[in-house]
Amino acid sequence: MRIGVLVSGRGSNLQAIIDNIEKGKLKVDIPLVISDNPEAKALERCKRHGVPYKVIERKAFKNKREFEERMVMELEDKGVDLVVLAGFMRVLSPYFISKFPLRIINIHPSILPSFKGLDAQGQAIRYGVLFSGCTVHFVDETVDGGPIIAQAVVPVFPGESSDSLAKRILNYEHRILPQVIQWISEGRVYVKGREVKVKGATYGTIPFNPDLEQF
Ligand code: GAR
Repeated sequence: MRIGVLVSGRGSNLQAIIDNIEKGKLKVDIPLVISDNPEAKALERCKRHGVPYKVIERKAFKNKREFEERMVMELEDKGVDLVVLAGFMRVLSPYFISKFPLRIINIHPSILPSFKGLDAQGQAIRYGVLFSGCTVHFVDETVDGGPIIAQAVVPVFPGESSDSLAKRILNYEHRILPQVIQWISEGRVYVKGREVKVKGATYGTIPFNPDLEQF
């Protein structure tokens, strides 16, 4: 399977994907990383690991549609089967999403549907929840609202900062994102409406349902 990874910043989730590929645990290729930010630290990671990348800045285009058309063109050109949003800080339009139906996943630093949008970790601290975590979900036309594939829960300790919570959550992001990519590449992820089942997954209580259409 060929994955295209979209990033905007630090790229630690991209790094987790690269590390798992290099260890042989994740059997996919990354023919292209796209960053909308020329300063993204993620780009240094690409250079270090020989991963092809392109910077595509929103401001280089007249409007969002043309910006997204360029990204779609590059991804299609590389024969990408799955688009992975790994810290990509822009909302994609229905146009972009329609080009990759159930073929875009995102990692979000909260237990969705709580704390959608920006600064999810700060939102969790300010709300006073005792547990938070991260979610990998399919991207649909709603912001942070598509079908949930995997989640990991972490405790929120009394008085801790948003940065400290973000670090604890990030550790789990780095585990569940590569895991979900591997599941999808093995054809084990089935989607029906909002429900996602992973054939043979070692966690979760929902039994596998063979009626579901194969992802
Ligand atoms: C991660 O915590 C990711 O979950 C979050 O941005 C960070 C990117 O870190 N994404 C979002 O908030 C998307 N709404 P990284 O660049 O080191 O992977």
